[in-house]
Amino acid sequence: MAASREQFGSRLGFVLAAAGSAVGIGNLVGFPVNAAKNGGGAFLLMYAIFVFTICVPVMMAELAAGRNSAKGPLGSYASLTNNNKPWSIAGWLSTITPFMIAVFYTVITVWIFEYLYNALTGDLAELAKPETFGAFINGGDIFIHLAVVIGIVNLILVGGVKEGIERSAKILMPALFLMLIGMVIFVLTQENAMAGVKFYLIPDFSKITGPVVSGALGQAFFSLSLGMGILITYGSYMDKRSSIASSAKMVAIADTSVAFCAGLMILPAIFSFNPQTDPTQLSDSSVSLIFTFLPKIFLALQGSVGYFGASVVASVFFLLVFFAALTSLVSIIEVPAASLVDQKGYSRKKSLLVLNLGMILFTIACTASFGMVGWLTEFTEYAGSTKSLFDVVYDVFYDTILPLNGLLICLFVIYRWKKHNLDAELETGDDGFKGSFLERYMHFSLGTFIPVILALIFINTVAIKFF
Ligand code: PHE
Repeated sequence: MAASREQFGSRLGFVLAAAGSAVGIGNLVGFPVNAAKNGGGAFLLMYAIFVFTICVPVMMAELAAGRNSAKGPLGSYASLTNNNKPWSIAGWLSTITPFMIAVFYTVITVWIFEYLYNALTGDLAELAKPETFGAFINGGDIFIHLAVVIGIVNLILVGGVKEGIERSAKILMPALFLMLIGMVIFVLTQENAMAGVKFYLIPDFSKITGPVVSGALGQAFFSLSLGMGILITYGSYMDKRSSIASSAKMVAIADTSVAFCAGLMILPAIFSFNPQTDPTQLSDSSVSLIFTFLPKIFLALQGSVGYFGASVVASVFFLLVFFAALTSLVSIIEVPAASLVDQKGYSRKKSLLVLNLGMILFTIACTASFGMVGWLTEFTEYAGSTKSLFDVVYDVFYDTILPLNGLLICLFVIYRWKKHNLDAELETGDDGFKGSFLERYMHFSLGTFIPVILALIFINTVAIKFF
């Protein structure tokens, strides 16, 4: 059935869709906070080096395996190894991981939707109260908002690759870029903003420690949506005339630029409206920053731009994050959806229906694990503390299995699928690739130090998280 497989309509469409997947909450909030706390410009430099020396080769490997097999991860690993059993485990891992990450990402996207809805319709003073977050995540409305988010994501997905994913990315991504630029300009013109820019950008190499280095790599890896089967799946919809190398570079540049601009929006905002900010008080967690700290800043804005102006800024901010989260969610649900279509022969609609039933069940369980249901809230215990179902999903899939999936794809393309097949796919649609520096670099890096680094991260995370 490979001949009838849908494809992205243009290279720009592919790049926007893949950038839509890559640009998410991680870029808009996680990156700025990490950069500001961990060495500013020094962190940025290190992050950019990781993106281009480690993440781009892994991204190209995923795209090549996907495009060559014209299948999602389950089918890719199977068909490129003639159904080798051990490798099919890698295919399963790359299919279950996105499903579970989609579950916890949906939970957070629903919270963002709650804040967006309230910024548009409600009072910012209410939104900025410390107890609001707790009340929201345990309020009955959350299930209505969950239905809205799942509804929007499915409306996009049911349209298919070209009419759904590509078309929505072509609207949502430019809108996101424009809103981001608008917010950056607005924030930078506020009083005291330069203190934030300095705090964000002045390099402090003394902050670069071992954990900061591995944190930066983890952030880059996650930010480019690697290890989730997404790029294998999107690769399977790529046409043979496009260059994988230059598309991957464009996605990486777009993703890194958005992360960089997000820093220029968030840090100066914090400093401008809260000049006494003690940098060390910034929480590591993106979640607490978006949902507890930033609403206070939006409220403080009322002093300078008025009640209405502050609500507009808050709404634009949450809309920005919501769009970013939507395009990421679409990409991640596409992975198991494509697998059901490829492997079980389901129609797209049937596969989405089956997946949604599972997802809704898990998402409701995770949503209820913040206090609504006792046994889900105190689901298990490891590393000396009680963990909710949400914590377990996060720790296992997000933190641990992602680097493992990355490790497996590197070993797979070089040692099992073999370099010459990888090369042939990368050379397709790219006349300059054969014999290039990038080609030699791909062989060397994917066969040596990248898997070693990913293996170390995996082992280290297991040791820290679970023991
Ligand atoms: N790259 C996304 C981010 O930075 C991560 C992600 C992608 C999460 C796809 C879920 C689905 O937020």
